[in-house]
Amino acid sequence: MCGIVGYIGQEQAAPILLEGLSRLEYRGYDSAGVAVLDGQTGRLSVRKASGRLAVLAGQLHGGADLPGSAGVGHTRWATHGAPSDENSHPQVSRSGRIAVVHNGIIENYAGLKAFLEDKGVPFTSETDTEVVAQLIEYFYDGDLLAAVGRVLRRIQGAYALGIVCADCPGQIVAVRKDSPLILGYGEGCAFLASDVTAILRHTRQVSYLEDGEVAVLTRQGIRCYDRLMQPVEKPVVQVDWDVDAAEKGGYEHFMFKEIMEQPQALRRCLSPRLQGGEITLENFALSGQYIREMEKIYIVACGSSYHVGMVGKYQLERLTRRPVEVALASEFRYMQPIVDRRTLVIVISQSGETLDTLAALREARRLGAFVLSIVNVVGSSIARESDQVLYTWAGPEIAVATTKAYSTQLALLSLLAVYFAGELGTVPQAEYRAALDAFAQLPDEMEKVLERKDGIQYFASRCFNHSSVFFMGRNVDYALGLEGSLKLKEISYIHSEAYAAGELKHGTISLIEDGTLVVALATYDRLFPKVMSNVVEVKSRGAGVLALTTERRREEMARTADAVMTIPDVHDLLLPCLGVVPLQLFAYYVALQRGCDIDKPRNLAKSVTVE
Ligand code: AGP
Repeated sequence: MCGIVGYIGQEQAAPILLEGLSRLEYRGYDSAGVAVLDGQTGRLSVRKASGRLAVLAGQLHGGADLPGSAGVGHTRWATHGAPSDENSHPQVSRSGRIAVVHNGIIENYAGLKAFLEDKGVPFTSETDTEVVAQLIEYFYDGDLLAAVGRVLRRIQGAYALGIVCADCPGQIVAVRKDSPLILGYGEGCAFLASDVTAILRHTRQVSYLEDGEVAVLTRQGIRCYDRLMQPVEKPVVQVDWDVDAAEKGGYEHFMFKEIMEQPQALRRCLSPRLQGGEITLENFALSGQYIREMEKIYIVACGSSYHVGMVGKYQLERLTRRPVEVALASEFRYMQPIVDRRTLVIVISQSGETLDTLAALREARRLGAFVLSIVNVVGSSIARESDQVLYTWAGPEIAVATTKAYSTQLALLSLLAVYFAGELGTVPQAEYRAALDAFAQLPDEMEKVLERKDGIQYFASRCFNHSSVFFMGRNVDYALGLEGSLKLKEISYIHSEAYAAGELKHGTISLIEDGTLVVALATYDRLFPKVMSNVVEVKSRGAGVLALTTERRREEMARTADAVMTIPDVHDLLLPCLGVVPLQLFAYYVALQRGCDIDKPRNLAKSVTVE
């Protein structure tokens, strides 16, 4: 949420900042802005505009109009104050000599604002961020770092900040608490970014700022300090993400590209873990003894990652016979969860930065649980704070609607369920082996599903005008429906809900009338007849039914449903992972027909770093 980029070096900063922002726009796209320091004239120029980054880039002719070789940029997801030019970042101090870009929320901004207003400081925006800029100026006496230090002792909440001052054209100050911030190292230059994709074109040498740390970026290098302003050495790591992976590569949308990349992503995720007929989990710290003594598993996540957890519950309970609870991260931290050292907490997050999930992780660790995370972004906060991390290795995911991260999370969690079952001896050897063989086939099976995309596009072309869609399924198909429904609503803006198929008649069936679209999910063979009965029920009330089932059930389903999509007949552990693909494609094609902004749906951001 909100993207920050910073550059200090020998080149003109504005084009570099705008290019970096274009890679961060998925984090927020309500407005954009830059502040550039010109060492020659001592001028700090701030330019910002509400709307997409293209508006600002157009006004600045790609940055060519703005001299100066140091600066910060921002793309905003509005929290405090509507999207407008005034509320855009950078926010500047009263004199115009200090500019601040911010990701996060300053929770005590109202009190600080009142304090400054009392001192006669005028405010020009509704943002919490302006308070930071004004407060730095209030404390500034020629030492920017000291002023920032005094501000940090007063502000509360979550923040990543990039700060520039006209008096100090040779430095950028960066601060982080609960919002991600990455430092990049180049020859005679230094970078700052919310996400590594923003600076990948310039450097692969990065370090991660920790909570409470402050960095001073100069052309000679980066100095870091801890919360007591003592110097700290930051380990520099090499990022191995491919630059092209964060580009559209000829596809019209990132979402479509990422859907199509899923077989490849699954190969990267699974192959190294399926060696020599065994499951190998890298540096796995959970001993067989811990697994045997584990009394309960909690899965904690948000959005689509939570839906992965829903599938995981069915699979883990069935395979391990241990109780599994799934909680929304935003609820977990406030519900006094019953967690102790015999509870394994699995947190799932693509970005590794979702604030609710990070807070839940901290709460779980505080309660003594072992926290295992499933994360895509290497070096992210959740990855670094977990006792154990398993990376999905899906590569950078840019579209707001998650696809390849979802399917790799799911594959990894299912694999983990089999691993635990192997350790616990809760499945017969033959079943264990069959599962491993099936996982090895998953990427190829997914390719077959993707080959059917034209058929799904055809169904989408017949359904895109619906104003409301219901998804229904049982067991893992219910969890799959939750994801299918979220995908559809987030990018096409069609109202949609998902129900356990047996639950529909306890209220929701009253909404079914002539022409209502119901997407019936019936891939889990054991419950196929039950879902069929529910299909008949909604058909009898006038619904049009688009079904998803396996090839072996196609004919049977086609006798009742209006249209049928299929996936190959695979091991039942893999059904949700394959089943999600037609639903992703369906949502994509519906949104395309409706002319929606698929990669940047309204009001959403890729990385949700506020509560
Ligand atoms: C899904 O398409 C979403 N955009 C969203 O629900 C997402 O899964 C959620 O915000 C969690 O993100 P995370 O996996 O990065 O923690």
